Formats: sequence, structure tokens, C-alpha cells
Amino acid sequence: MFETLDTLTPESILGLLAAFRADPAPGKIDLGVGVYRNEQGITPVMKAVRLAEQAVYADQDSKSYLGPMGNDAFNTSICNLVLGAGHAALAAARARAFQSPGGCGALRLGAELIRKAGSAGTVVHVSDPTWANHVPLLTGAGIRIASYPYYDAATGEVRFQAMMDYIDALSPGAVVLLHGSCHNPTGADLSPAQWQLLVDVLARRQLVPFVDFAYQGLGVGVEADALGARLVAEKLPEALIALSCSKNFGLYRERVGALIVVSQDAAQLEAAMSHLRAISRGIYSMPPDHGAAVVARILGDASLAEVWRNELSQMQARMRTLRVDLTRALRQACPDRDFSAIERQHGMFSLLNLSPAAVDHLRETHHIYMPQNGRINVAGLDPNAIAVLSAAIAALPSALR
Ligand code: LMR
Repeated sequence: MFETLDTLTPESILGLLAAFRADPAPGKIDLGVGVYRNEQGITPVMKAVRLAEQAVYADQDSKSYLGPMGNDAFNTSICNLVLGAGHAALAAARARAFQSPGGCGALRLGAELIRKAGSAGTVVHVSDPTWANHVPLLTGAGIRIASYPYYDAATGEVRFQAMMDYIDALSPGAVVLLHGSCHNPTGADLSPAQWQLLVDVLARRQLVPFVDFAYQGLGVGVEADALGARLVAEKLPEALIALSCSKNFGLYRERVGALIVVSQDAAQLEAAMSHLRAISRGIYSMPPDHGAAVVARILGDASLAEVWRNELSQMQARMRTLRVDLTRALRQACPDRDFSAIERQHGMFSLLNLSPAAVDHLRETHHIYMPQNGRINVAGLDPNAIAVLSAAIAALPSALR
């Protein structure tokens, strides 16, 4: 039967990772896949994670099944982290987390739930641009995608009025996918005042926000980054929040995430959870436990949580410094172009406003790797990479500028 299959071109982000690994050039620079790197260029196991892993190994007395919802302690503590302990939706028993295999698993569970709850061909409105993998995660569940205006490439800012006008014209029940913080791929986030205005429109138009929240703590801070997720859970009767512990706990390969469902009341929440149990059972049955047990251990232990928060805030501060340094270097190397938005943007990613041909040239000539849309992983930079990248952009042939 496999003779009917064409070989697919590699997926844009993970394909790039494979291409980078295969490149023998000694000075190659990886600005592709979104993983945090420290000053040594390493994606470390966080100290809090190592300590929690030791405790989990010492205490765990069984590897028996947990169930489709995963680890209860994780689900409880991650709700408290994302929504804030004592959040009104938690107090009213109308919000609950369902553990998933990573943020992708949470997005897929959310998409499957939307399709179950809505009519076939349900549309989810995503930002223009959005993370490339939103497309297969949503369409693979039978969802159709439409795009709302989001990013102004000329200014590097959010096209807020255009976004609001689009959302204000949607029909009741429409689902709007929002990035909780650290917008991927642009780094252009909504301000607190813009979140308030957006949530007012979502409520007035009876829309359902689906918040992709994969970078809590890496934008401005753990609490500040959660503002949008907390607001939608407070002000709206229904919301979905897909979260990931890949980046903020450095647990990438352990696949730790959750879908938080916010519902009108406890009965509807239980109905939604029953469908999620059936959906997960029909795809992967149950999520892996190890990473979730580690996160639960960290968040359930005040001193471990303190170690984790300090480590995370150092990571956030390092990326902020790299943004300042890169903006300065680009300003000096390319005085005719405005890269100042990079300094104002948040999280791991920014777009460099380069054409696909320029991206190819940087890879082929300078061994600098980034996806075709010109997105860079800020955490992949170091002083050498900043110098090489700035000089390479300044030296782009005029036809590619
Ligand atoms: C990214 O956008 O690079 C990350 O979210 C990793 C991934 O899975 O694509």
C-alpha cells in the first residue's frame, strides 16, 4: 500500500532542525526551533527539574496506569499556576485541566473538542501570521481555519484596530485562537489594556477564545504573562487554554502540557471532560507521567518552586538582554533598516522581515538557519551569532534586501 504515498517535504520547523544537524560547517548557527539555550549554547535540564526528578524517583512506588486525564496533582497545580490560585473560575468549579502530551497534544485535544461540540467544518480564527503547526493540529481534527489581521510587518506592532474590527464582526459561538504571551512567530504581544478591550469584545459577541499558552514566564514574567488567560477565564462563560511545560520547565522531550477547559458551570465542564477522556482514549489513551509528576513536585514544594521561578526569570532576563544586543548590532550594521521592534517584542521569537530568498542565502552562504518566514529564536543567539547575523544581513545582495 505504501506505493501510493509520495514522500513529503520536511515540516518547516523540525525539518530545519534536521538540516542544521546534518550541516558539517563548524560555525553554523541555529536560530530555528524554539528551544531555550544558555550562554554555553546548551538547553539545560533546569536545576529545579533535576531536584524534583530525584524526589519523584525516590518516592514512586508504581508505574501502573493513571488514566486519560493524567496526573491529578499536576492538573491541580497547573491550573493554579496559569489561572492563579483562588481564581473565580476555579472557585466556581467551572475550570479544570486535562493533562496532554505537550502543548501540541493540548491544541489537538481542544480542536477535537471544538469539532465534537460544534457542527462539522467548524472554523477557528487564527492570527495572521500564526505558528505553522497550528494548521495541521487544527485541520487534522476537521477544523477549517480563517485568519484575522494581527501583525504589521512595517512597524513590528500588533494591528490592534484591524484585529478588533475583524473579531467584532464574527458570529456568536465563533472560536478565536489567541497567543497568551510571546506570540509565535512575531513576538508582538497585546498590551494589558488591549487584552481588556479584546475580552470585552469577545464577551459582547459571545465568542470562544482558544488561548495557546506555551511560554508562561518567558515574556514579561510568570504572573504578567498570564493576564490574558486569567481574563478570559474570568470574564467569559467558555474558554479553552492549551498550555505547555516544554519551554518554561525545559521539559521538551517529556511532552508535558494540559488543556484547561473553562465552562459555564460544573455540569457542562464534566460533560466536556467526558468527551476529552473519550478523545484521548481514541488517540493515545493516556499522557506520559514522568514530566507531569516532576512539574507537580516543583509546584507543590515552596522551596523547589522558588528555585524554578528564579531560574525561569534568569532565562527571561537573558532573552531580554539578547534582544537589546541584537537590536543595537543590527542598527549599527544596517542603519537603513529599522529593527527596533525586536527590542519591544517578547519571548523567544521575532520576525526579521527577510524574504524567503534572503533566508535561503543566509543558510547557504553563512550557515545561519531560520524558518522560511524569517523567524529567529532569540534564545539561540550569543555575541558571536549576533555579530555574524548582523554582518550577514548587512551584506545581503541588493536583489535580496
Ligand atoms: C517552535 O515554534 O519552534 C516551537 O514551538 C517548537 C515546535 O514544536 O515547533
